[in-house]
Amino acid sequence: MRVVSKIDEVRSIIEDAKKNNLLIGFVPTMGFLHKGHLSLVAESKKHTQFQVMSIFVNKIQFNNMNDYNTYPRDLENDFDLAEKNGVDLIFLPDDDEMYGNHLTTVHLDRLTDNLCGACRPGHFDGVFTVVSKLFNIIQPHVAVFGQKDIQQAVSIQKMVYDLNFPVKIIMGPIIREDSGLAMSSRNKHLSREKREDALVIYKGLKRAEQLLLNGERDSKIIINEIEKIILKGRPDKIDYISAVRFSDLSFLDTIGEKAVIAVAAFFGDTRLIDNMVIEYERGRIKCVF
Ligand code: PAF
Repeated sequence: MRVVSKIDEVRSIIEDAKKNNLLIGFVPTMGFLHKGHLSLVAESKKHTQFQVMSIFVNKIQFNNMNDYNTYPRDLENDFDLAEKNGVDLIFLPDDDEMYGNHLTTVHLDRLTDNLCGACRPGHFDGVFTVVSKLFNIIQPHVAVFGQKDIQQAVSIQKMVYDLNFPVKIIMGPIIREDSGLAMSSRNKHLSREKREDALVIYKGLKRAEQLLLNGERDSKIIINEIEKIILKGRPDKIDYISAVRFSDLSFLDTIGEKAVIAVAAFFGDTRLIDNMVIEYERGRIKCVF
C-alpha cells in the first residue's frame, strides 16, 4: 500500500494502474477508520481491482469548529486497517494541497433543504466541493458511500448526474455494533452512559419497522412513535426525525413509495445520525437498516 499526499503523485500512480487495465475503486473518508469504512472498501473490491482511499478531515464541511478540532484522528491505525483490508493507495493531502486559495464551491439545491442540510448550514457545500475535487483528482470508475450518511449518498448521486462525472456511485450498507448503534467515528466521543442511551435511535427505527409491517403508513404517527422511544434515552437535542422520499429527499406525509426515515440527535455533545430505507419487494414493504 502506498501513501501519498500530492495530487501529481496520485495522478501518476492511477494512470499506471489504468494502463494495466485495472478499474479504480474509491472510498473517500475523513479517517479514524472503523468497520463501516472497511465494508465500503469490501464493496468497492467487488467491482474494481485497484482501491484508492482518501483520508482528509475536510474543514470546510464542518459548521462547528469544535467538532472539527475534536474530530478523532489516528493515522497509524488507519494505515494498518487500510492495508489489511486491501487498499492499494491512500491519498492523504493537507489543507494547502486541497484548497490553496480556492474560490469555487459546489452547491446542490433542493436535496439539501431538509434533514442535515437544514441543521448544518454550509455542510453539504463543503462535502460536494471536496468530493468533486477528489473525483477529478482520482478519476475513479466506482466510488462507494455509506447509507448511514443517506443525504450525502443520494445527493452525490444527483451531483454526479448533473455534472456528468464519469463515475458509478454505489451505496454500502450501515454497519452496526452488536447493540444496534450505527458505527461512526464520532461514537468515540460517547461516554459509556450516553452510548447506552443512544441505543434508543435504533430502537425507534425498529419500532417504525414494526408499525410499517403492520400496515401503518402515516408519517406523523410513525414519527411520533419514534420520538417517544428516543425521548426515553434523554437526548440532549433532537435535530430531526423525518420521513422523506428516497428520490429527492422531500417530506412524505404517507409512506407509499421508496422512502427514508432518518434521525439526527445529540447525546451529550455528540451528534448521531441513523436511518432506514423503506423499499418494496414484490409489493411487500422491506426496511433496510
Ligand atoms: O462521509 C464522509 O466521511 C465525508 O463527508 C466525505 C465523503 C469523506 C467528504 O469529506
